[in-house]
Amino acid sequence: MAKIAPSILAADFANLERDIHNIEENGGDWVHVDVMDGLFVPNISIGIPVVQALRPVTRLPLDVHLMIQRPIRYVEQFVKAGADWLTIHIEADQPENNLACLDKIRFLGCKAAISLKPGTPAEAAIPYLDKCDMILVMTVEPGFGGQKFMADMMPKLKTLRAMLDERSLKCLLAVDGGVDGITCEICKENGADVLVAGSAYFKAGDRRAFVERFHR
Ligand code: DX5
Ligand code: ZN
Repeated sequence: MAKIAPSILAADFANLERDIHNIEENGGDWVHVDVMDGLFVPNISIGIPVVQALRPVTRLPLDVHLMIQRPIRYVEQFVKAGADWLTIHIEADQPENNLACLDKIRFLGCKAAISLKPGTPAEAAIPYLDKCDMILVMTVEPGFGGQKFMADMMPKLKTLRAMLDERSLKCLLAVDGGVDGITCEICKENGADVLVAGSAYFKAGDRRAFVERFHR
């Protein structure tokens, strides 16, 4: 049993309200919002005004994935815009700023999460374990939807699961990138609690049945 967070990066940007209502109707748990600045990743997507516009459209948690340099500069604005979860990349700033950023997110009443790019080892999460509510393991290089799932990230997922369990931490473990109705199984087997799915969700012929695969 895992939660599914469909990523609106693969939605129709001219019909976001419709597509988010569709996520609700099909039993999706969270709405994943990918924010890209063209610096941390080689792509630009959406930002604060879009989060603000989506807030009144849904009661589902808004899970905002910040793929931006030095995220501490913007977290307050994202929380005020309505984010329920804010994920920062630990590669996007110095450790002391990341720690301060996580404290700031929690102080503002939002759930704080860290994300690890494929090249970042599980051990890099250790300094942050007490300060975060979720760890997001990237199974593609961040920046674009529709890429191939990197199954070689599964040992990292398993290591993180063990780290959290050994310490009896309630922190959730999430996976993002190339997750579909097949790859969701191996993610669940290796301890994932939350699965982000962009293209596979929006391409699914029967989205309700797709969501059920994640919930099983
Ligand atoms: C990639 C984003 C993902 C993306 C996933 O940088 O963080 O959330 O939307 O898309 P799919 O599921 O198509 O790989
Ligand atoms: Zn994402």
